[in-house]
Amino acid sequence: MSASNYKAIAALFPGRWDSHYVASKLRTDPLYTALEENLRGSQLPLLDLGCGLGLSALFLRAAGINLPIHGLDYDSRKIESAKRAISQGKIKDVSFAHHDARQGLPEHHGNVSILDILQFFTPAEQETLLKLAASRVAPGGKLIIRSGLRDHSFRFKITVAGDWLAKATSWMKAAPTHYPTSEDFQRILQPFGVIEISPLWGKTPFNNHLIVLTRKA
Ligand SMILES: C[S@@+](CC[C@H](N)C(=O)[O-])C[C@H]1O[C@@H](n2cnc3c(N)ncnc32)[C@H](O)[C@@H]1O
Repeated sequence: MSASNYKAIAALFPGRWDSHYVASKLRTDPLYTALEENLRGSQLPLLDLGCGLGLSALFLRAAGINLPIHGLDYDSRKIESAKRAISQGKIKDVSFAHHDARQGLPEHHGNVSILDILQFFTPAEQETLLKLAASRVAPGGKLIIRSGLRDHSFRFKITVAGDWLAKATSWMKAAPTHYPTSEDFQRILQPFGVIEISPLWGKTPFNNHLIVLTRKA
């Protein structure tokens, strides 16, 4: 995607801070391209848990992926900004709602994404959310997760520091609680289908990985 696409998306956010953050996040983070590559060709709707400002939805639309998208986040400010951006951009079949993912999930049958939010959950909450999310994935659909993985790397230490900084600057409402390991994902998700785990940090210093569960058809 081109720099002008990123600028057009950033322009949907009125505040200088949000629009600067959006442009730089889209330019530097490989997350959204990975999401696009995983969803290309799918007709199933996407439930985006912890959608933040709705960047996944905006990126997917700009990339020509037109499946219906519903985003949930417990930060009302971000949900309001995401709704405003969708309305300003006249983007169809995308909706956002305020919801705490620790309180269960709405009915859904399709693809699900959980991008950079698991660190705010306790181990038990992570396991509950992952099982619930996997159960909402339709046959042939995907559960697409990005998470920092707990291991002995220097990248992991930087990941933890970055999340504490986000809390200190009030960008995130919560401090990080727990980071899952690669084995946690294998153990929890294996009964649901095929799992692939690969590094997804691009030029960032973080220990981010992409975890994709493809539900058995
Ligand atoms: C690092 S941001 C990622 C935003 C978005 N997924 C993205 O990648 O562009 C983490 C998001 O998770 C949300 N979040 C954290 N805990 C949550 C919860 N219990 N329920 C819903 N959203 C939550 C935060 O409000 C924040 O918007």
